[in-house]
Order: sequence, then C-alpha cells, then structure tokens
Amino acid sequence: MTSTALSPLHTTPQMEPANFLNLLIVDDERSIREACREVAQSLGFTAYAADSAEHAYRMLDAQAFDAVLLDLRLPGAGGLDALRRIKERRPEAVVIVVTGYGTVQSAVQAMKNGAYDYVTKPFSVDELKLLLERVASHLKLKSENRMLREKVKSKQGFGGIIGRAPEMEKLYRIIAKAAVSAHPVLILGESGTGKEMVARSIHYSGPFRDKPFIPVDCGSLVPTLIESELFGYVKGAFTGANQSKDGLMAMAEGGTIFLDEVGELPVDLQAKMLRAIQEKEIRPVGSTRRVPINVRILAATNRDLEQAVMQGAFRRDLYFRLNVLSLRIPPLRERRQDVPLLIAHFLERMIRTSGQEKMLSDDAMKVLLAYDWPGNVRELENCLERAYAFTSGPLIHSTDLPQEIAQLPVLESPGNGNGNGNGRSKIIPMAELEKQTILSAIAELNGDKLQAARLLGIGKTTLYRKLKDYALQGCEDARI
Ligand SMILES: Nc1ncnc2c1ncn2[C@@H]1O[C@H](COP(=O)(O)OP(=O)(O)OP(=O)(O)O)[C@@H](O)[C@H]1O
Ligand SMILES: [Mg+2]
Repeated sequence: MTSTALSPLHTTPQMEPANFLNLLIVDDERSIREACREVAQSLGFTAYAADSAEHAYRMLDAQAFDAVLLDLRLPGAGGLDALRRIKERRPEAVVIVVTGYGTVQSAVQAMKNGAYDYVTKPFSVDELKLLLERVASHLKLKSENRMLREKVKSKQGFGGIIGRAPEMEKLYRIIAKAAVSAHPVLILGESGTGKEMVARSIHYSGPFRDKPFIPVDCGSLVPTLIESELFGYVKGAFTGANQSKDGLMAMAEGGTIFLDEVGELPVDLQAKMLRAIQEKEIRPVGSTRRVPINVRILAATNRDLEQAVMQGAFRRDLYFRLNVLSLRIPPLRERRQDVPLLIAHFLERMIRTSGQEKMLSDDAMKVLLAYDWPGNVRELENCLERAYAFTSGPLIHSTDLPQEIAQLPVLESPGNGNGNGNGRSKIIPMAELEKQTILSAIAELNGDKLQAARLLGIGKTTLYRKLKDYALQGCEDARI
C-alpha cells in the first residue's frame, strides 16, 4: 500500500453541506482513514471507517451508507470483488474507488462495474474535497428526485391527473360532481392541458365506468362521413353499404361519448347532435326508424365557443345543451407549482419503462420552471421524453433540453450602466457557454482533461462525450 500525501487541511469554499449523509471509508492504513474522515467531517458527512473488506461488509450489513470510499488494493481482497460485494449489499450507495498510481485501468473497470468515480493516490485534500462535494450534491439531487417522486404518489388527483395547484383542487371537486351526474359536461382548455384526461376521469370515476368510453375527434372526421360514423347506417344507405353498421353513439351505449374538438362539428351535424341529446334517440343514415340511445355526452374544445356562437359558426341551442356543466383546465403557466410534480411523474414513468435511472440537474429544473409552456403538459412531456432519450449519463442538464426552451434570458451587460449600447448583452446559448468553459479549462490545465473534469465538477465520461460532440461540430480544439 503506497502512502498518501495528504496535505494539511485548508479551506475550499464549501458547496453543499453533506448533512445527514453517511460515508464509509474502507482503507487498511490508519493515517489515511483518519485523514479522509477529517475531510469528510469538515464537509458535514458522518464518517465511519473500516480497516478491511470483511469489516466493511459487516458494517454495510448493519447499516445503510450513502457513500463508500473504497481502496481497491486491500490486503486479502480483490478490489473489484469488494466493489461487487458492496454493491450487492447496498446497490444505491455511491462508491468512489481509490487506486494507486499506474493502476488506473482497474479504476476504469470499477467504474464500468458501478463505481461512481475514482481518485488516484497520492491525492490532495483539495482533490478529495472536490470529489466528496460532488458526491454530496449528487446524493442531494438524487434524494430530492426521490422525494418528489414519493410526493407525486400522494399528489395525484382523479384518474392519475397530477397537480396540487388550488385551481386543480377546484377542478377535482367539479370532476367528482360531474362524475356522478348524467348531464353533459363541456371541458375547456388550451391544447395539451389534459382535456381528454379529464374526460376519461369523469367517465371512469362515475357509475358507468364499466361501460364504454368512446372518444371522437370531431376535427379529424371526414365531413361527408361524420354522420354515418356517429349515427351508423343501414344496408343500402349508400354505395358500398353492404350491411348495416352501428355508429359511435350506439357503440357508447350505456357509457360515455367524448366529442373532442366539438367546435369543429359542421353546422348540419350540430342540428342532428342536438336532436340526439334532446330526444335521446338517433336515426342511422338510410333508416326511417329512430333508435333510442342512452349515452352520456362529454365535449371538449380549445376554441372560444361563445365567440363561435356569436359568429354563427356554432348553434346556440347546442352550446347551451353541452354547457350544462363546464370546467376549464388552467394552462400550465398559471400553475407553475405543478411543474416539478409533473416532471417527477413523467421521469418516473420513463425510468420504469426503460430501467435507466436519470434525474434533472438543478440548472435544468430552473429552466423548466421559468419556461412558459405554450403547449402545456403535452409539451412538457415531449420535452422530457426527448431530453431523457438524448442524455446518455444519469443527469439531464439544461443543455440537454431543446434549444428553444433552454435559451438564456436577456442579461444586463456588466459595466454598461453608463448607457453604453442598448443596455442588453448579446444572448449566448447555454450550450455555447458550456463549450467555452470546458475548452478554456482544458487549455488552462495544459490539456489535462481528467483534472479539467474534476475541477468543472463533471464526470470524465460526460467531458469526453461533450468533446466528441464538439469535434463532430467541427471544433478543432476539441480533439480527444
Ligand atoms: N395533469 C396532468 N397530469 C398528468 N399528465 C397530464 C396532465 N395533463 C395532461 N397530461 C398528459 O399530457 C398529454 C396531453 O393530455 P390530453 O391529450 O388529455 O390533452 P388535451 O387537452 O386533450 O390536448 P389537445 O388539445 O392537444 O388534444 C397526455 O399525454 C396526458 O397524459
Ligand atoms: Mg385532446
């Protein structure tokens, strides 16, 4: 075991106090255990020490640790074997491996086997501090994400609808009332706010939940076919009608028909729909007989129907029929407090489907909170799906978000308060800022990329991935 040159403690600015985080230091050399313990404690970790692998296993069996600092060269134990046995016991623990000079290869293997990072002996106090600070902020993010996910479980309203903003609470109360009544409900809301979701939850929380829920997109039906689609037809009604067919209204018998984008319904069909609602009967195309129906009507629109009524594009009487009960889903920008809950909900779903644990960095979360979401929840969901797919590491940064969302706000230029220019600086995209920071750090450190990654507080693989991207973009300075 080589001895480690730990320089005397001196202060580096502390990023995140690691309060309540447990660290287990596994090293057979007492002086190193003590020195590491001192550094860890100065950062707020509760530090424990084990002098052998066996000792560490016993401790890990007895208690949970957030992080483990493991010397890969313990007498009598293969380092990688020790790593495997630690991970078996505590898969969630962050393990940092300590290697000797010239054995970086084993550290790389350890990282492939699940170690979070490595440090090479001899290391300085500053190096260890930086590493432990990064571990602390990683663990903090992880626990925040976990907490958020747990919160989501208790934050679901009806039918998996996420949101605890006061407007959403009000919405849940209306949904609960609407569910037990048989009256039509008109659901209003911008695109992507969850109108269909609300319609489904009204149906599935009500007494007809075992009966069909039939959604009809009135905007995408071919105008000449809408009537036969909705009301059905009899044999011989038109060319090609070789046999009678039920329409969507009849298919929804006993349940709910959801007329999505009802504002798009052509005027002649509006009259027929009104009659169907009023008389509770329909007449299939080509038939002279009326057929009774028992169907609950839900309708949705993102258009201003009142205005359409005034312009004569929508029948007033049908509007009143549909609007017996109405509810409006607020746009996401009016309930920003729900954004983190929605993010946690969607991330959890993606993690469950793909099995890959990923989370949002603080900077990405800030960007998502500041954005206006004109496409509402659907846009947020799509944005996260893209970022999740594009990010190869475990952390989604703001630079992984679509450019239109991750744009920097307009900044005041430093030092131009004397009226120099228009008082606004040029907007530099986040990705460009990051690239400049990374490349200048490497240049400053005479090309030492490992050191650059460490000082920038990012993982080596992330740094290499970014350099590869820059090289692909034709950047000469990004040679790996
Ligand atoms: N409050 C919410 N909680 C969880 N998921 C939501 C919520 N609101 C919307 N979503 C999700 O967002 C997407 C859009 O929802 P939905 O289709 O219900 O919106 P919409 O208002 O009908 O949109 P459009 O006007 O574009 O038809 C869906 O994937 C839905 O699951
Ligand atoms: Mg919809």
